[in-house]
Amino acid sequence: MMLTLAQAGEGTFWFPAQAAEDAAKVDDLFYFVLYVSVFFFLLIMTILSIFVIRYRRRDDSAPQKSPSHNTVLEIVWSVIPTALVVYMFYAGFTEYLSKRQPPAETYEIGVTAQKWSWNFTYPNGHVTDVLHVPVDENVSVLMTSEDVIHSFFVPAFREKMDVVPGRYTKAWFKPTMVGEFDLFCAEYCGTSHSEMITKVVVHPQDGPDSFEEWLREDSDFLSKLSPVDAGKKVYQMRGCAQCHSTDGTSGNGPTFKGVWGTERRMADGSAVTFDENYVRESILQPKAKVLVGYEPVMPTFQGRIKDDEITALIAFLKSLQ
Ligand code: CUA
Repeated sequence: MMLTLAQAGEGTFWFPAQAAEDAAKVDDLFYFVLYVSVFFFLLIMTILSIFVIRYRRRDDSAPQKSPSHNTVLEIVWSVIPTALVVYMFYAGFTEYLSKRQPPAETYEIGVTAQKWSWNFTYPNGHVTDVLHVPVDENVSVLMTSEDVIHSFFVPAFREKMDVVPGRYTKAWFKPTMVGEFDLFCAEYCGTSHSEMITKVVVHPQDGPDSFEEWLREDSDFLSKLSPVDAGKKVYQMRGCAQCHSTDGTSGNGPTFKGVWGTERRMADGSAVTFDENYVRESILQPKAKVLVGYEPVMPTFQGRIKDDEITALIAFLKSLQ
């Protein structure tokens, strides 16, 4: 469409880069609505100003008689705006339908939102906290939430969909540009909503950086890395880092620095030693023992995390002295 200002590869004043197949259509419709609105705003304001000045009440004259009717004018100002809004509805609704119905063949990735991080699950069971996708392939995301309503938003793909607890929602896109793009939560979900930010990494089709290579390498980390390094990776990819710092600062959860083996006071007054079994229980049943001064807001990882990953995580926590 002639109104488009955006060129693939770079952002504009209004939009980030167009990094998915349908992004240009979304932008075209936005510019169409914008320019139609600007045109009519200026037209109406100009005529209004002229009339206000020209037909103002003058002291020395009697009120002017208004014309009662002008059929040609009335048809013109009814038909043209009607045609414009019908076109806006048609373009918006057809694009909406195409975005709701994924193509027959898509690469499906599971998305789990929780306060306040994202988990992405690939068909081989591997989980990450950053979304990785192949370029030029139809990718669908099957999304659900562990707690409250979140919203999956990738501005560069012009893709946004609510992520709702107790049900699945779907979205799909076809990335057209290799690179890293922002992924936000676009639904207010509590204290750290504004920090519920991650990235989408779009991999090239071939070569050492390809999606298949990355998935094969990254899935294998438990057997390749030392327990401490593997545990650090679990800490990041499972979203622990969003709430638990390793530098001593307190977040939505307590820090992990220098706490191994210490005695901790719980909200119910009891004392618990920060050891292997306490860590394991807190991952699987986070509300069983809550540290004094903190809210019981951590979601459970029961059924979502492997024992090997918990063991690696314990090795990492032990190393934070
Ligand atoms: Cu999750 Cu806002």
